[in-house]
Amino acid sequence: MPTLKINDISVTVKSGTLLLEACKQAGFEIPHYCFHPALTPVATCRMCLVEIKGQPKLATSCTVLAADGMEVSTHSVAVSDARAAVMEFLLINHPLDCPICDQAGECKLQDYSYQYGSSESRMEEPKRRYRYEDLGAKIVIDKNRCIHCTRCVRFTQEISKTFELTVANRGAQLEVSTYQGRSMDANPLAGNIVDLCPVGALTSRDFRFTKRSWYLKPMPTISRHSAMASPLWADVDENKVWRFRPRHLEMKRATHFIFDEERQAFARYNLDPATRLRQPELNGAPATLDALAEVLRSTGTVAVVGQGTFGCDSAQRLGDLASREALRFGSGDRRYPLHFPDLQGSGDGIFNRRGFAERGYRFGHLDELLDLVQRGEVAAVVVLHDCEFSSHREGEQLRRIVEAAAFSCVLEPIPSELSQIATARLPIATYLEESDFVVNHDGELRRYQRVLAPPKGVKPLATWAKELLGLLAPQPV
Ligand code: SF4
Ligand code: FES
Repeated sequence: MPTLKINDISVTVKSGTLLLEACKQAGFEIPHYCFHPALTPVATCRMCLVEIKGQPKLATSCTVLAADGMEVSTHSVAVSDARAAVMEFLLINHPLDCPICDQAGECKLQDYSYQYGSSESRMEEPKRRYRYEDLGAKIVIDKNRCIHCTRCVRFTQEISKTFELTVANRGAQLEVSTYQGRSMDANPLAGNIVDLCPVGALTSRDFRFTKRSWYLKPMPTISRHSAMASPLWADVDENKVWRFRPRHLEMKRATHFIFDEERQAFARYNLDPATRLRQPELNGAPATLDALAEVLRSTGTVAVVGQGTFGCDSAQRLGDLASREALRFGSGDRRYPLHFPDLQGSGDGIFNRRGFAERGYRFGHLDELLDLVQRGEVAAVVVLHDCEFSSHREGEQLRRIVEAAAFSCVLEPIPSELSQIATARLPIATYLEESDFVVNHDGELRRYQRVLAPPKGVKPLATWAKELLGLLAPQPV
């Protein structure tokens, strides 16, 4: 393990650590554009220059490994001059359109220009001009803003391996472009290039011009649309999620990136409060929970069906409603094509299957439940469901179970036809409106916190189930 001095502070790092990361460990952030920990270093932007004692020239800290005995300066006059010069060069063709740029507020060019650049420009020649271009339906590129860091290009070469982007031409004509006008629509990871772009050259069509970034509050959450329950940032304002972004976890390379399906899923959970169920319903009419409990108690044997796309606390409480453990059935059969095994981990679309299985839910046995209901051995069913994660076949099985049961209570945060045919419904919160945890496909526990406030009357399933259990428990005489 090499020990080196950075600005006279001694630090010991793991062998193979880049100088840029060693400086970070010593408490000195090195400005950088082209470096990204998940991509091959190319040292094109020259922003990360540092001075190494005994070396005649400044060195790019993103390509030099920390070595024993090295003495590094990150704040010398030579380094400051070099950074100012690099900033001036990068801004030669960059437009001053921050007031209308989506990246404003989270732009490295803005930040570093303020910290290391000059307040005046010596550029008198007209700037290069390009028109906006669509890279398909999802991404828009503004080449005027591009600083040619090539992060986006390397992403399509090294991570998605779809090779849509390239660096074309040379010198002042250098530009990031697609091969023969190819679109990025077929790339299921395309949205990541927007996150990777350190300036506002790549923007997402969905988010473009919708919200200034400084109004958004990033809240940690997880993705419900991946087997690994990928960590996410939910950017929230006005009790609404405006975008999902990957939330990187230390030592987990796959968490740098998310799939477009996960990224776009936020829109499903921005439900209109005016159209939501606000109180329990029995036979299509508003009812009290006592009335619902009374019917459930008098009906007979109760089975539960829990879809593995909810949290473990919900699974536990729902399971307690079943008359016996063998009557806990699991549902959810969504699968994703496994094109990127390293990033996906599994093709299973049910992120908490393990958590439900650990609590006694048996997946793949809905036929058995239908049989029990049809023979009258199970009279009541409580179904926790989200139609997004069930195939048509499974949806049909659930419909037949609900229709055949003497009493059915369907719990859906986003109602589907199944709710319409149920005897009873409860207004339950979406996963963004509750705090719980899941066990992903690698067996890792991933917690999530409430991101949105549910409307009055809407509660997490675990709360409803607990109240229901309280009402069903034998009353003291
Ligand atoms: S578009 Fe953005 S990520 Fe791509 S090279 Fe230009 S600045 Fe870098
Ligand atoms: S980050 Fe080192 S040269 Fe760009």
